[in-house]
Amino acid sequence: MKILVTGGAGFIGSNLVRLLVTSHSHEVLNVDLLTYAGNKHSLADIQTHPSYRFAQADICDSSVMQKLFTEFQPDWVMHLAAESHVDRSIDGPGAFIQTNITGTFTLLQAARAHYEKLNGAARDRFRFLHVSTDEVYGTLGATGLFTEETPYDPHSPYSASKAASDHLARAWADTYGLPVLVTNCSNNYGPYQFPEKLIPVVILKALRGDPIPVYGKGENIRDWLYVGDHAEALHTVIAKGRIGQTYNIGGNNERQNIDLVRLLCGLLDELRPRTDGKPYSDQITFVKDRPGHDLRYAIDATKIKTELGWTPKQDHTSGFRKTVQWYLDNEAWTTNILNGSYKLERLGKA
Ligand SMILES: NC(=O)c1ccc[n+]([C@@H]2O[C@H](COP(=O)([O-])OP(=O)(O)OC[C@H]3O[C@@H](n4cnc5c(N)ncnc54)[C@H](O)[C@@H]3O)[C@@H](O)[C@H]2O)c1
Repeated sequence: MKILVTGGAGFIGSNLVRLLVTSHSHEVLNVDLLTYAGNKHSLADIQTHPSYRFAQADICDSSVMQKLFTEFQPDWVMHLAAESHVDRSIDGPGAFIQTNITGTFTLLQAARAHYEKLNGAARDRFRFLHVSTDEVYGTLGATGLFTEETPYDPHSPYSASKAASDHLARAWADTYGLPVLVTNCSNNYGPYQFPEKLIPVVILKALRGDPIPVYGKGENIRDWLYVGDHAEALHTVIAKGRIGQTYNIGGNNERQNIDLVRLLCGLLDELRPRTDGKPYSDQITFVKDRPGHDLRYAIDATKIKTELGWTPKQDHTSGFRKTVQWYLDNEAWTTNILNGSYKLERLGKA
């Protein structure tokens, strides 16, 4: 297939593009603006691959989007480009409204114009996959799981903008017949995650000897999904999913933040012990909670399992170990980012 991926220079996008090109032999056009979160180095290993092309472009630019569709003639669109960090959405919601809502609208319009010109087999195989988050469902108490029928109840500017984009994607299916699928997934972890998110922050702060910040009492619970499993799930959904459907994607791996931070500290104690012999957990520091911090997210991923046969493959004990090892082995990747404008500072205190 010829696949137009947006946001392919980001964390999930780069893992997805690599999988599509190297494991599934697809042809990919990666459309990415290279914001602070985009990084061409994340795809250095495939940048000269004959099935990979890159276009630096803004999904909000309708004439450029239409041109890219006309030139590339994609069979599938996998839309990941977004502003993705909740804390940044608290400090500056405008970029989230622009990229996540206006950008998705612009891309849907370009996809629609392209789809309306297709005939026969090309029209039959066209799909638009909109990649979203479980945060659109709001928060859970101590029990319960998000299903595809859970009503939307977003609480942060980030999740509200993603919720809006999900509604747009479904409206373009219902109103214009665009063959859209939507996925909502839990927190991803793995290689190439920008060091503003919890797991890389913990690893990098620990290694620098800085306090390791934990919001509130660290009691918030998230489900953690290995990024490679997520990428396979996205491929499964676009290849086999039913048009117009939503699929929740989860890792069956719920953890309290504080437990996860302690686990990461323990892995670092083993893989790169502190020179003074003390445990990294000594650096854990509780800080003022994030405003509007949802208590618990957890996914019921029964639908994707029973309908499409997808389940997460990564054993999480080895997944977290592999992730810590990746950050230890790829310090140049993070150093290069931290030489830019972001310096591991706390964001989103409102
Ligand atoms: N990371 C997670 O745990 C998680 C969980 C659920 C859903 N998601 C969703 O998955 C998608 C990817 O998330 P991620 O963590 O890889 O994000 P990321 O922030 O690492 O990457 C986003 C990418 O989008 C690009 N981008 C931003 N604005 C753009 C624009 N206007 N035009 C073109 N490109 C633009 C950036 O340059 C970057 O490469 C997002 O839609 C996000 O909402 C992420």
